[in-house]
Amino acid sequence: MSFEPFAMERWQSTWEHRVRFNLSESGVHPMRAHELLALAGAAAEPILDLALGYPQSNGSERLRAAIAAYYPGATLDHVLVTNGSAEANYLNCWRLIEPGDGVAIMLPSYMQTWGLARAFGAEVRPFRLREENGWQPDLAEIDAAIAAGTRLVIVTNPNNPTGAALSAEARNRIVARADAAGAWILSDEVYQGAERTGVLTPSLWGRSEHVIVTNGLSKAYGLPGLRIGWCVAPAAHVADLWARKDYTTIGPTVMSDALAALALAPATRGKIFERTRAIIRSNWNVLERWMSGMDGEFTYRPPDAGAICYARYRSTANSSALAEVLRRDHDVLIVPGDQFGMDRFVRLGFGLAAQDLEAALARVALAFRQVGD
Ligand SMILES: Cc1ncc(COP(=O)(O)O)c(C=O)c1O
Repeated sequence: MSFEPFAMERWQSTWEHRVRFNLSESGVHPMRAHELLALAGAAAEPILDLALGYPQSNGSERLRAAIAAYYPGATLDHVLVTNGSAEANYLNCWRLIEPGDGVAIMLPSYMQTWGLARAFGAEVRPFRLREENGWQPDLAEIDAAIAAGTRLVIVTNPNNPTGAALSAEARNRIVARADAAGAWILSDEVYQGAERTGVLTPSLWGRSEHVIVTNGLSKAYGLPGLRIGWCVAPAAHVADLWARKDYTTIGPTVMSDALAALALAPATRGKIFERTRAIIRSNWNVLERWMSGMDGEFTYRPPDAGAICYARYRSTANSSALAEVLRRDHDVLIVPGDQFGMDRFVRLGFGLAAQDLEAALARVALAFRQVGD
């Protein structure tokens, strides 16, 4: 099996806790445990009283039931709880991709599944989100990428890094083409719930017998440290994934499972989404104001979801070189477009505390002046 490092995660893993300002994160600044308990109206004592033994390895019934409730027709057997949506994506790629399989992938995207598909020997067929189409895919490219012999179609919706949600037309076309090819669809929906507009992005769940949804608490819920994700899929497929999970992480931590069940109760989830969207809306205003004061340096489409802005910049500097200047000289971490295979773009995360965002952006402005044109 070949191995290529996951460039963006390597960059973040190495630096995110060593910089003063982290603009590489795509979610909002995280909640604290006591904030979650307060929003849920729950006492700390039952959590502190938990026996720290091995958990139910596919997730407690309470947690799986809470997740299943958001996916019409899903039961406990349709849900596997994972360590982040990253583990759910990994297990699916491991289960579904054999060398030579055709895998159609929306790009740019969170490059985990792209890297895994290549590592498992797939023949990767990208279909691109087009800047000139407001980051929607071209329908003809979808048709070309998803064709006879395609085993798996991977979408990230809402998308990272563009923040764009797929149009109904694009969703319908992807589902129709995958159906015609007899392909599985893996729909990573981890930004669902983090919409600026407040309108929940429609899930692909239920659109065919072969839809697999991954999601988790890291972005829309502001709880990445719980490391809770999930996969919702046909029961037989979930059983296969669970057997593979015995080889990866065995199960979630007991405390995370319990806190996740609190977060997913409908009333609490609603309050958490409100918190996330409030941060995104007010920080977006800060970012837009800053961009408009940058003399046309940036062109961008406002994100539909996520605390990320994928901006094209005018300077001729290489994006990785620019990100390195920012990190080394200004103590700020951003994601260079190079890490999505697209130079001359940067992904700016704006989910941090408001006063930090203003200070961080002032440093980004300095770096752009430094690299100049
Ligand atoms: C689209 C997407 N999927 C999955 C992940 C992994 O997130 P986690 O494992 O924390 O749920 C990320 C993280 O940035 C992401 O952007």
